[in-house]
Amino acid sequence: MTRRFYVTTPIYYVNGAPHIGHAYTSVAADIVARFRRLAGDDVFFLTGTDEHGQKVEQAAATAGETPQAFTDSIAADFRAMADTMQISYNDFIRTTEPRHIAGAQALWEKVAESGDIYSGHYEGWYALRDEAFYGEDELTTRPDGTKVAPTGAPVEWVREPSYFFRLSKYQDRLLELYETQPDFIGPHGSRNEIVSFVRQGLRDLSISRTSFRWGVPVPGDEAHVMYVWFDALSNYLTALGYPDTSAPRMAWWPADLHLVGKDIARFHTVYWPAFLMAAGIPLPGKVFSNGWWTVEGEKMSKSLGNVIDPRDLVKEFGVDPVRFFLIREVPFGGDSDLSRRSFIHRLNTELANDLGNLAQRTLSLIARNCGGVLPDAGPHTPEDEQLLAPASLLPSVMEGQVARCALTDALEEVWKLIRACNAYIDHQAPWALKKTDPDRMAHVLRVLADALRIIATVLQPWMPESMAKMLTQLGTEEQERSFAALATPLPGGRSLPAPQGIFPRYTEEAK
Ligand code: MSP
Repeated sequence: MTRRFYVTTPIYYVNGAPHIGHAYTSVAADIVARFRRLAGDDVFFLTGTDEHGQKVEQAAATAGETPQAFTDSIAADFRAMADTMQISYNDFIRTTEPRHIAGAQALWEKVAESGDIYSGHYEGWYALRDEAFYGEDELTTRPDGTKVAPTGAPVEWVREPSYFFRLSKYQDRLLELYETQPDFIGPHGSRNEIVSFVRQGLRDLSISRTSFRWGVPVPGDEAHVMYVWFDALSNYLTALGYPDTSAPRMAWWPADLHLVGKDIARFHTVYWPAFLMAAGIPLPGKVFSNGWWTVEGEKMSKSLGNVIDPRDLVKEFGVDPVRFFLIREVPFGGDSDLSRRSFIHRLNTELANDLGNLAQRTLSLIARNCGGVLPDAGPHTPEDEQLLAPASLLPSVMEGQVARCALTDALEEVWKLIRACNAYIDHQAPWALKKTDPDRMAHVLRVLADALRIIATVLQPWMPESMAKMLTQLGTEEQERSFAALATPLPGGRSLPAPQGIFPRYTEEAK
């Protein structure tokens, strides 16, 4: 039976333009989505924009626009960026859409039915920048007397009527969840942080505001709008058609994987499961958080003028090298730095040299010495076996890695094979066999073509465009590009298109 797989990105705030940090989580989620599709799953992949809240309301006012006009244009830009990055989402949800508003209200009502929402007054420290409340004990005081949250965001004292969610009631059930489902939170560091945060005790959570209007009205009390995180988290359900449990898409719930940045892990691993428990809705399988990007060693900020729009890099280098670098540079889950020099260095060494040259050498030898047709496979020597046996295991080894979100390890696994192929071609020297043993030359080239087919197949999720080109050059048809198709060898004798370089080299000088 086909397995359903549901993966999500965070929905992005529309109070500023999209940048490389946003592209990052989306690329990672896209890799998982494409990988599961190649493995045969029926994947639903959701992304979108988070359009309510005081911050957006203020940003719209600053821009002199209505919140709706403002969010319409920025949401369109986020969608355009997702398209440029080749994010293969199945749906793009916007929290200002009627389907979302109705679904978020239905979730609120469901939670309220369980008796876990009560009204009171909120009084405490609120950081607008984070759209989050903080306890006195979490704050530090700057020399000028201002108080800031652990994230560095300034906080202000707020007092207003509010509805509360009985988060405190869920402490034990949450700890039990982390205990019994140890993979619920990844990576390990993030899990430990969350567990100790919850162990310290949970305060009830203010989940409505009355001081601004740009939000989802609280059902039955329109003086309140929902706290933006209650509204936002519900997107993962509303996009599936919630509360209509008979909606076909609801078959994808519970989500298999929520990919998020480390700064929003707490919302996804504490608040979200607690809301779902209160509503009696099954919990997602996993929340994995990625690290943050700096640029040339500095935090990205508008004031420094170093905010990178990934589309500029794509214009210069193409989409796949950017996707590759984002995941390759640092083990997925950790923080990373984008430096032009190391970016170009990786493209040159790993893409142009290791992979590009291997393909170019193999394909041009086939073009020149085998009349441009794929040679038949010959009897395998022990060296051939040594290369092909681990190669054939690659999809299943990577499947385990992708399930753990070890997206960088999975790439490293492919590079081991690429390096082994380069050693093999040097050692077998098919160019020399041309005169001495042309049959063996053809067999060696066929072994390499088979290994390259595996490499290009498993790398499609990371570099869809260039691997499609490589698979075309290797003579595979569209329907021969899944993991299952690898079990059937390509028939010898197929004529191959003229080989063309896929990854150019760049000069490493900084611009
Ligand atoms: N709207 C919320 C998410 C709601 S999900 C139900 C939000 N939006 S955000 O636009 O501020 O951030 C979205 C994602 O971008 C987060 O996962 C965040 O970690 C990520 N990043 C923002 N800047 C980043 C970097 N510099 N580097 C890596 N990721 C970063 O939070």
